[in-house]
Amino acid sequence: MAKLYINPKVKKGHINPELQGHFSEHLGRCIYEGIYVGEDSDIPNVNGMRTDVVEALKEIHVPVLRWPGGCFADEYHWKDGIGPRAGRKKMINTHWGGVVEDNSFGTHEFMELCRQLGCKTYVNGNVGSGTVQEMSEWVEYMTFRGVSPMADLRRENGHEEPWRVDYFGVGNENWGCGGNMRPEFYGDMYRRYQTYVRNYNPERPIYKIACGANASDYHWTDKVLETTFDHGNGFMNGLSLHYYTVPHDWQHKGSALEFDEKEWYRTLKLTLKMEELIRRHGAIMDQYDPEKKIGMIIDEWGTWYDVEPGTNPGFLYQQNTMRDALVAGINLNLFNKHCDRVKMANIAQMVNVLQAVILTEGRKMVKTPTWHVFHMYRHHQDAELVESSVRAGEVGLEEAFRVPNITESVSLSGDGRLHITLTNLSAREPEEIEGILADSRVKAVRGTILTGEMRAHNTFEAPEEVHTEEFAGVTAAEDRISFTIPPRSVLHLEAELM
Ligand code: AHR
Repeated sequence: MAKLYINPKVKKGHINPELQGHFSEHLGRCIYEGIYVGEDSDIPNVNGMRTDVVEALKEIHVPVLRWPGGCFADEYHWKDGIGPRAGRKKMINTHWGGVVEDNSFGTHEFMELCRQLGCKTYVNGNVGSGTVQEMSEWVEYMTFRGVSPMADLRRENGHEEPWRVDYFGVGNENWGCGGNMRPEFYGDMYRRYQTYVRNYNPERPIYKIACGANASDYHWTDKVLETTFDHGNGFMNGLSLHYYTVPHDWQHKGSALEFDEKEWYRTLKLTLKMEELIRRHGAIMDQYDPEKKIGMIIDEWGTWYDVEPGTNPGFLYQQNTMRDALVAGINLNLFNKHCDRVKMANIAQMVNVLQAVILTEGRKMVKTPTWHVFHMYRHHQDAELVESSVRAGEVGLEEAFRVPNITESVSLSGDGRLHITLTNLSAREPEEIEGILADSRVKAVRGTILTGEMRAHNTFEAPEEVHTEEFAGVTAAEDRISFTIPPRSVLHLEAELM
């Protein structure tokens, strides 16, 4: 039997809603088809945004959306995407699939999407192939209220009021697709570019994010911070980190649907590496920023498999199974646990690309198992992380890929309810759990569970194959909560305290 210890009286930090953020790039069918179909489409839409997709995203309370990339960001020239659509430049999306990018989704459309979702905006600027002037003018276009060439241009294009830019990324993956820079060079570029990301609304300053490391590139983190902190304060509010779960190697990543139990554990073990990355990059950040003023922004995470057979290799379209649900559960628990440093995380990507929460095909749409995990975890948004730990065993078939069978995080929401989210990583074994609450007594508890076979997934023909159900098997008495969590499952328990 596993033991779960919870102390609701010990608060460990605030869980920013942005830990459940999303990312949408001009890549494959994420933006076009997946989100934006245009006003003239026969797919029901509001100002071009698919109604079914927007409604499904509202259900999971998308807190923030990052756009336009990804690698696309450092090739994106924002002026191509404003003004009358008929006059917008058509070009080839060289990075992703060589398809025509007609720029019909641009700044105005992104802001409209965020308005419909009711979420914060995270715009990623172009350092790799763009100029300082271009970046500076974009910020002016979006956020300046007064008289200026860019604010006037925005008004000419039909938007009187400035928008709110909550987060601004100064380049993306500048160690790779964003310019192949060395960290010292990028650090200097960052200092320069960010200077012109002006705060036209000092009451709501833009949160500036510097390009951080790829996975375990600790050298990048150290050198970027060293360069930016030289005689300064780092000039940044956040530093990004990208880490994808790739079951094998980049040439043969593994299939999204065809995998065995060994690969199940391998994938989950590689996901758990996120903890080490947060700790080790965090330790470097601590050296420069011991007060943790700078947020770690994990603005790309998720599974990355081989594309579905028969689809454009540049579109990164993959199916999504219970394995992905576990990956999401593990990561979201980890982000909660490290909410003192991690201030935002964005799953890659929102629709039809990589570990998507939604898949579409023509008029049809399905919610993936990952969508269900976000739906269960939404209760953590804006809650206080409380102390918790679990004592359980390890499972796995290969020594190198053994994993703890249970992961957890616990928060207290504004209404005083306790939210416990757990994952059982075991492919076969249920786990009996006794939860012990320090200094508190439980009045009532109820649960929701997502479980299924390893490869269970939703299709356009069977969209409800994987779905959540009420979890009846939980009892509470005094300071104890008892239940058995089935194998391959993600569980949310909501407890009312006395
Ligand atoms: O999410 C797909 C790609 O992965 C992004 O464009 C890039 O930033 C990363 O390498």
